[in-house]
Amino acid sequence: MHKVRKAVFPVAGLGTRFLPATKAIPKEMLTVVDRPVIQYVVDEARQAGIEHLIFVTGRNKGVIEDYFDIQVELVNTLTERGKKTELSLLEGLQPQPGTASFTRQQAPLGLGHAVWCARDLVGPEPFALLLPDMIMQSERGCLASMVELYEKTGGNLVSVEQCDPAETNKYGIVGHGGAVGSGFRIDGMVEKPEPKDAPSNYFITGRYILQPEIFDILETQEKGAGNEIQLTDGMLKLAEKQEFFAYPFQGRTFDCGSKEGFIRANVAFALWRQDIRGKVFDDLHKLMATVEPYGERSAAE
Ligand code: UTP
Repeated sequence: MHKVRKAVFPVAGLGTRFLPATKAIPKEMLTVVDRPVIQYVVDEARQAGIEHLIFVTGRNKGVIEDYFDIQVELVNTLTERGKKTELSLLEGLQPQPGTASFTRQQAPLGLGHAVWCARDLVGPEPFALLLPDMIMQSERGCLASMVELYEKTGGNLVSVEQCDPAETNKYGIVGHGGAVGSGFRIDGMVEKPEPKDAPSNYFITGRYILQPEIFDILETQEKGAGNEIQLTDGMLKLAEKQEFFAYPFQGRTFDCGSKEGFIRANVAFALWRQDIRGKVFDDLHKLMATVEPYGERSAAE
């Protein structure tokens, strides 16, 4: 079985839910505590043993490429000033030369199209796909656990979590076809089913290990929901020929593409950090006791 060596990060979306910030800053570069969202996802890929990072970027996303490059002036200035801690922090961030590739999705035609744009860089081998706006908090990275499971199952693998059974119509839902190792075999995938039609309440959460045959399917795929080329439609076709498995992730997931998810991520990762946890915890308590919705007081007077 081929090892999973490459990971694809589709970062070409418009991020309309985060306007006006995303007019000038890619949403993947918004910071959770002190590092951009994309850094958390890249760290998760590295922890899983990924050797090559493939970014599918778009217009206005050049700053992502700069972020993963060496900043010579900054390094020189920090060296002159003897800032050893800051220097070692930067050293760990950038990929080794030749281990990161960038390609452009020239128009945001959908996630399925963004993944297809990576076909030549991935080549004929299985690959990991990480949606960079979903960040995950757990001692062991979600993708590392998935790679371990994949070594037993082969095929295709997606991370899942359980949603409120009344809310299956918000998610891509998979059916539980029997346990396999730390996961289960998928016996059906349905996009946003009504609760009465849902095969389970397990929904797909943003980490995938896919076989390269997905590219041939995406190549000829028609536009689907939202007039975009949808990855889920491609996976449904692939599932007619190949097996799919699910890995139920046990940690916390934050959708940093939504305002609420992004704020929850900031709070959760700040509380996770030993250096700032105490202060943040106290401040949040005080804020919750004193801040009222803007305009409420004057409306009452
Ligand atoms: P989202 O559905 O979150 O889309 O895409 P978006 O356009 O970035 O955000 P909103 O909904 O307008 O606020 C999920 C992932 O797929 C990527 C996004 O960058 C995100 O990581 N994507 C989406 C692409 O790379 N290209 C696309 O055409 C669409």
